[in-house]
Amino acid sequence: MRLVAGNWKMNKSPEEARAFGQDLSRAGLPEGVRALLFPTALALEHLVATVPSTVGVGVQNAHPEVCGAFTGEISAAMAKEAGASWGLAGHSERRELFGECDALAAERVSGLLRAGLNVMFCVGERMEDRERGLTDRVLRRQLGALKEEDLAHQRLSVAYEPVWAIGSGKAAGPKEATEAVLMIQEFARRPLTVLYGGSVNPTNVERYFQSGELGGVLVGGASLNPQTFRELLVAVAL
Ligand code: PGA
Repeated sequence: MRLVAGNWKMNKSPEEARAFGQDLSRAGLPEGVRALLFPTALALEHLVATVPSTVGVGVQNAHPEVCGAFTGEISAAMAKEAGASWGLAGHSERRELFGECDALAAERVSGLLRAGLNVMFCVGERMEDRERGLTDRVLRRQLGALKEEDLAHQRLSVAYEPVWAIGSGKAAGPKEATEAVLMIQEFARRPLTVLYGGSVNPTNVERYFQSGELGGVLVGGASLNPQTFRELLVAVAL
């Protein structure tokens, strides 16, 4: 089933997350689509307690170790105990703003899988990579950092999120998104679920599904409002 995932980034306090969950529960969800939200770690439990039970809730970032001297980090096991069923890893904001390298992103993927969570692993090229014809090479490098068994894992999904499309209002075209999906699946040698992310909104979302290759969308800004998030679900539902 198609997936609409909302990445809230550093937005929404625990109380705001609770209000969002209540709004979504009141409005009800369309059938034929899966919904998933990534709140801040502080708001995880509040959201889990209030969204309809079919909505997945995930952690945006998790340390590969279960516990230890890692100030400021939380582990996948802790997020799971708080109700998370998914985890994000490799988001370009972690890579670009916090200097996270391919190896660390891959370690985070392993930790999330070990904890029993589903993983959304984000990959994507910068505009200068695309202009120089290096998109494939960048995606292969990012995917190639994963352990073989993690790439083959049934609980791994990949989100193709070109850096230049995130939060810019310049969404990639459906052709670019489809090319990336096929390249990622070819690299993984299996038909794993690949999502597109980057300036997706209720108006442009449908075009990504026309080729039939995309498994879902990962949405930032347009996932923050419960009505807009619901519009995305309605647009994508089959
Ligand atoms: P955006 O963010 O939809 O606001 O472009 C997407 C993301 O970062 O996952």
